[in-house]
Parts: sequence; C-alpha cells; structure tokens
Amino acid sequence: MKKIAVFTSGGDSPGMNACIRSVVRTGIYHGLDVYSIMYGYDGMINGDIKKMQSHSVSNIVQRGGTILKSARSEEFLTKEGRKKAYDQLQKFGIEGLVAIGGDGTFTGAKVFFEEFGVPILGCPGTIDNDIYGTDYTIGFDTAVNTALEAIDKIRDTAAAHDRIFFIEVMGRDSGYIGIECGIGGGAEMVLVPETKTTIDDVVRSFKSLRKSKTSSIVIVAEGEEEGDASQIMNKVKQHFKEDEKEFKVTTLGHIQRGGNPTAMDRLLGSRCGMAAVEGLIKGESNCMAGVINDTVVYTPFADCITKDKPLKSDYLRLQEMLSI
Ligand code: F6P
Repeated sequence: MKKIAVFTSGGDSPGMNACIRSVVRTGIYHGLDVYSIMYGYDGMINGDIKKMQSHSVSNIVQRGGTILKSARSEEFLTKEGRKKAYDQLQKFGIEGLVAIGGDGTFTGAKVFFEEFGVPILGCPGTIDNDIYGTDYTIGFDTAVNTALEAIDKIRDTAAAHDRIFFIEVMGRDSGYIGIECGIGGGAEMVLVPETKTTIDDVVRSFKSLRKSKTSSIVIVAEGEEEGDASQIMNKVKQHFKEDEKEFKVTTLGHIQRGGNPTAMDRLLGSRCGMAAVEGLIKGESNCMAGVINDTVVYTPFADCITKDKPLKSDYLRLQEMLSI
C-alpha cells in the first residue's frame, strides 16, 4: 500500500482534527502518500481530494470541528454514487481509506468495502459515544465537559430563583452524554432513552423532594421517548398549581459539538488515527480502531453498527442515589 486517504463524515466532533493529524503524520512516517478528502463521501464522489504534507496538519490538534469539513451524503447511499466515488479513488491511485465518523459513516464504509474491496479502517468520531468497540468515542469527553460548564451556570441561576430547569443534551438515541452530565452536574433526575421513566415518575419524584431542595436540574437526553425537554416540562407542569413551582427549559444544542478538545479527546483521536494507519499497513480492513481498557482494539464494522453499547449499569443507580 502506497497511497491512502482520510476523511471525516457525519456530525463533527472535537478531536477529529487530532485524529486527522495523526493519520497524516503516521502515514508519512511509514513512507505512505496521504491524501485528504473534503466533505466526507460527497468529496469522494466529486474528487475533492488533495495530497497532504506533514505541515498541512500543523496547528490543528487543539482545534474543534474538522479541517476536512463534514457532510451526510445522500448520493453515497446510492450504488451509482458509490461507483463514482470508487472511480475517483482509482483516478488518484488511492489504495486504502481512513474514515473518521460514527455509525452512519461505518455503514457506508462497510457497503463500500463489500462492493469494491477498497481496504478501509474507521476511527470513532462522534460526541454520542454510541459506538460498540470502543470505551469512548472521539469528542464525547469534550461534549460532556462543555455541557457540564453550561449546567453549572444554569444551576447558579436556578438556585437563586428556586426554579426547576429541564436541560436537554445531545446524544441522538444514546443517553451517555445525559447520564454523565447527570452525575457530574449533580442533577436531581436524568431522563435517557435506555430507561423507561414516565411523567408520573417525574412528578412523584418532585413531590417527594426534601424541603431544603428549592431548585432542581433535570437532564433530558434528546432521544428520550417522553418527548423533548420542552414537551416534558409542559406535561409535568400540569401536575402543579400555577404558583407552586417555577419551571424553565434550556436546550444546549450544537454548543456541545464545538470547542477545543479535551486532553482525553486529543489523545484518543491521536491513538485511533495511528492505529487505523498501522492497521491498514498490516492488512486490517472493514473494521474500526477503538480503545477498550486502554488497549487498541480492531472491531468489524458489522459489529460496530449492529451491536448495542449499553450504559454502564452502575451509572444510573449512582445518579439516583446521589440525587436524594
Ligand atoms: O451524532 C452527533 C449529533 O450531534 C447527535 O447528538 C445529534 O442528534 C445530531 O448529531 C444532530 O445532527 P445535525 O448536526 O445534523 O443536526
């Protein structure tokens, strides 16, 4: 293998740049030509591809976002789109790929490998931490810390006014961001898609709060089945008299996707990037490089995208216990 290319796809996450830098420099270190593809699979289809040098990735390890831009490609979902992408890779002589992204990215990578046999390795880049085959995904730690900073600020004003805040965090169908913010932010309740919590449960919990607790924080993960934070707040509100409690809602949104990556995400991105390139050189393919128990592990894309990654079982219990 002489020429490889790297791209980012799906929602960006802090630490993707550290991963790109690692792929480029590890590749060059091992004597490969490394190319970048802009805008994920769309850029592959359009031939938005250029050769990288070691200095092309200078001064990016500390930056959020992705210098390669990202997109969720509609065209790559079609066989014709994937054929165009393959033809572009042939044109540039690219023999291996590193895809940085989440389950959508890996689903595309798996199909592409099966159809055209281009060796492809993945790095888990998403704030959601919902990928099987790695303890953490690149960007999750930063997102949790960003959300916590906001939650701490909201708690100050919640306490000052004796208010109940419903704070919505990201995570698509996963409650990882929610539960870690709940524990770290001292929330009174956490609603995540992995557990069944009814509106009655929320109301009951508020009615039984000790008298000294005059303000509360409820973390709502965006995938919660009872609805978004605002809908849940409105349903709960109906169970209280007008002047009994004051409710507010805050949706943190995309603030969680930006910002300088934490040390943990820079390190994870760098480790996964190196492992992906060295995996390709050793002949690994159709799999993701992740880190489990502090050890690099290669997991087939098929498992990454189909197997569940349940919340750590003791986290929900811990959160509940600490919120009394
Ligand atoms: O997958 C990352 C994520 O931020 C999810 O938490 C969220 O559901 C989704 O992406 C939002 O996507 P978009 O930026 O396309 O609105």
